[in-house]
Amino acid sequence: MIKDLKEILLDEKKIKEKVKELGKRITRDYEGKELVLVGVLKGSVMFMSDLMKNIEIPCCMDFMAVSSYGAATESSGIVRILKDLDYPIEGKDILIVEDIIDSGITLKYLLEYLKARKPSSIEVACLLNKPERRRVEIEVKYQGFEVPDHFLVGYGLDYAERYRNLPFIGILKEEVYK
Ligand code: IMP
Ligand code: MG
Repeated sequence: MIKDLKEILLDEKKIKEKVKELGKRITRDYEGKELVLVGVLKGSVMFMSDLMKNIEIPCCMDFMAVSSYGAATESSGIVRILKDLDYPIEGKDILIVEDIIDSGITLKYLLEYLKARKPSSIEVACLLNKPERRRVEIEVKYQGFEVPDHFLVGYGLDYAERYRNLPFIGILKEEVYK
């Protein structure tokens, strides 16, 4: 797998430190609230589990699965819900947990979709943010790293369902997907 990478962008230590810092902030901000982490499958799984271990107040977890990509590296712009939440969120404090924000289309859609269920609050935590690629405006309260416009894999992020198990984040060589 490593031979398919151009370089390692974020190593395990960097990711771990950042996730710890985000967990601390969330712990502080959500004291006394009804925090529900909503992970966006499948890319957010590693980030979600590490983040949750760094949150020191009671919190629940739920998941959604959406699709906007297929096996391509560009968003199709059309979002489909593949799996919805298991529990109602009315009156809860929702934190959507995403691996990476690219065009922003997936998150924009999810935010509107979940706001209609009247949560008490709704915010976004993303590990990676590619602002250069943004096509719609999104407010991100908790962000790990701003990253350049390359296709990234590892720590949950995939290309055609592969590379998710790499413990670090790397830039995929263009020849792998072009
Ligand atoms: P958006 O709707 O364009 O913001 O796409 C967001 C989703 O696309 C993320 O949740 C990822 O699943 C996927 N994605 C965007 N950029 C990358 C990347 O560089 N590597 C792997 N997946 C990505
Ligand atoms: Mg995703």
